[in-house]
Amino acid sequence: MKKLIAGNWKMNGNLETAVNLSRSIVEQAGDVSGNSDLLLCPPAVYITRVLDICRDSFVAVGGQDCSSYQSGAYTGEISAAMLEDTGCRYVILGHSERRQYHNETSALVSEKAAIAHQHNLNAIICLGENEQEREQSLEKDIVGAQLEESLPPAVTAKNTIIAYEPVWAIGTGKTATPEDVADMHQFIREKLQEKLADSSAIRILYGGSVKPDNAQELFKVPNVDGALIGGASLKAEQFLAIAAAT
Ligand code: PGA
Repeated sequence: MKKLIAGNWKMNGNLETAVNLSRSIVEQAGDVSGNSDLLLCPPAVYITRVLDICRDSFVAVGGQDCSSYQSGAYTGEISAAMLEDTGCRYVILGHSERRQYHNETSALVSEKAAIAHQHNLNAIICLGENEQEREQSLEKDIVGAQLEESLPPAVTAKNTIIAYEPVWAIGTGKTATPEDVADMHQFIREKLQEKLADSSAIRILYGGSVKPDNAQELFKVPNVDGALIGGASLKAEQFLAIAAAT
């Protein structure tokens, strides 16, 4: 399966950097598009600008979150319908920063994913244990429960992607070892198989300090079907080097 290389820009940059970064990536995307699908998730206010730049290119655009409501009096929220309307095809949901700083539960993530699906968005559902949970060897309990509770009904390989992101590896420069990644991705694959008919085609991304120098090793791991990249997605050459490592 073609790997998905997704950039999560988080709350970084400004209009100028968003335009320059997406332009540079679009210009060189043809070189890496044979082995990987590219996705950029800019801050919401820059999505339409980035979409204009990515139109007719190999690069897709997605949101970093969406509301669990369809529309209405929810100040500050962005709906799945709005993301669809602008031309987004993906949305990241349940990122650990949303779970941690905005108290998002897996039940809420599941509601958001169901609405995302109604609006033809591919939901990238993030899962991952924190450092304390890993030290206590609870990672599979945590990730298994998050998976169980975050998936909405009617999940298919066309509308859902899983991202395993150990929280202790995000933005820290620490990455899980290839053995740990292999073990967890295999576990997630088996869990998906228990639940769904066509689960073998569901992509499972790894995230957490993915960089050009560790990407190749990670992409060799079975059941690693791409990467969700934070810091290194803010530099076109690093993002493209990770894509080239596929
Ligand atoms: P990082 O972030 O690559 O900076 O560790 C990954 C993520 O949060 O998706």
